[in-house]
Amino acid sequence: MEIIIKSDYSEVSSDSAMIVANQIIAKPNTVLGLATGSTPLGLYKELIQLHLNEGLDFSNVITFNLDEYVGLSNDHPQSYNVFMRDNLFSKINIKKENIYIPNGNAPHDKECERYESLINRSGGIDLQILGIGSDGHIAFNEPSSSLGSRTRLKTLTQETVKDNARFFDNISDVPRFAITMGVGTIMEAKKILLIASGVSKTTPIRKAIEGPISSMCSASAIQMHPKTIVMVDEAAAKDLKEKDYYKWVYNNKKTLKN
Ligand code: PGA
Repeated sequence: MEIIIKSDYSEVSSDSAMIVANQIIAKPNTVLGLATGSTPLGLYKELIQLHLNEGLDFSNVITFNLDEYVGLSNDHPQSYNVFMRDNLFSKINIKKENIYIPNGNAPHDKECERYESLINRSGGIDLQILGIGSDGHIAFNEPSSSLGSRTRLKTLTQETVKDNARFFDNISDVPRFAITMGVGTIMEAKKILLIASGVSKTTPIRKAIEGPISSMCSASAIQMHPKTIVMVDEAAAKDLKEKDYYKWVYNNKKTLKN
């Protein structure tokens, strides 16, 4: 894993956006895996600026979102459909027909199969963006999720429901189920970029990077992925045992630079 420690959220946002932008420039028909939540908001803002000011072109980009709640209409303000529309898609030149988000209202078995086959038909995800939950989840792969799991219906833990309650009027309004890509689905992405910021991510980041690979922290599966970048700020990196080592990079003068 390439572990990059930045000073704060704003640096994580701008530097992770550069990774995504370079991927799109290198392959204009990139298949991007996208995440929701607070963490990628800064990255999406940066991508919008790169589109508006530098002409970053999304016209051939294809996107697959990680997950969607079950039981919210597509136009519900807290649905991930609306989140993605408001925070990214309506502000860039992506084609509607190139956007894929699981349908949380369709019969779930068929929908999960359909979603997996759409990903396969697109040629697979080139770059998957991930956040991490306070319980160590990636997408909605809650503790005990099989590390080989595919897209499926998942019950949300009490911790995730509590974390996500901040977006709803009442905790009882938070859906208890979601359709989510599986850990196995995510691991098939050609590259992974996991971003995290703030003290609430200190423990899950420590477990994901330096803990044992375990279904109790589905993010730890990225240790098995050959091309993963983890970009975190100092607060999220606080408890990493090898934090100082990760800061050393091999520069083009063939010397180590901290
Ligand atoms: P957050 O959520 O970015 O809102 O902290 C991350 C996640 O649950 O995956």
